[in-house]
Amino acid sequence: MKFFVDTADVDAIRELNDLGMVDGVTTNPSLILKSGRDILEVTKEICSFVSGPVSAEVVALKADEMIAEGRKLAEIAPNIAVKVPLTWDGLKTCKVLSDEGHMVNVTLCFSANQALLAAKAGATFISPFIGRLDDINLDGMDLIADIRAIYDNYGFETQILAASIRTANHVAQCALVGADVMTAPPSVIKSLANHVLTDKGLDQFMKDWAKTGQKII
Ligand code: G3P
Repeated sequence: MKFFVDTADVDAIRELNDLGMVDGVTTNPSLILKSGRDILEVTKEICSFVSGPVSAEVVALKADEMIAEGRKLAEIAPNIAVKVPLTWDGLKTCKVLSDEGHMVNVTLCFSANQALLAAKAGATFISPFIGRLDDINLDGMDLIADIRAIYDNYGFETQILAASIRTANHVAQCALVGADVMTAPPSVIKSLANHVLTDKGLDQFMKDWAKTGQKII
């Protein structure tokens, strides 16, 4: 499973990228707001050191304006994936931009039927939002499994990009049900290394090592 980082925080992306943990980046208008940066400028900076897909989202609601915004975002770098919402105008935009050879990430997906439409419109990525389904007491992971089955039934090549990932459990479950990509905030990616028994075991090793009185260097 590929790891995308869900942030427009350049320092946080660099830190994970140096560890080889970054296969791509996703941003959205809320994350651009949080970064306090200009969308074109910060996206260009991210693309200067991330070679995988970098999603940048349009903000128009009508297809003709979305297409114009998407083309402008795609000019930033060849690895831009234009992010569009799962509306009819977004799907129209997806079809036009993907026919032009641009990567398109269709976002705000909350049902298997929406995912089917995005695949038929030529989406490179479909972004089902796990955490937000969990928020309303639905099981976001069921949606990932349903989309996986549907795409496999018909050989759709659209990649399932599990989004709105909030916990380490979400990450493991996405990998188990076969998401192609997961995108998570840097804090969630870092938390994957944590285990209470790792901490406990290391603590015991350090105590015992001190008692040996030895040094390696
Ligand atoms: O990738 C989508 C993500 O940014 C939304 O996450 O936690 O706001 O639902 P969240």
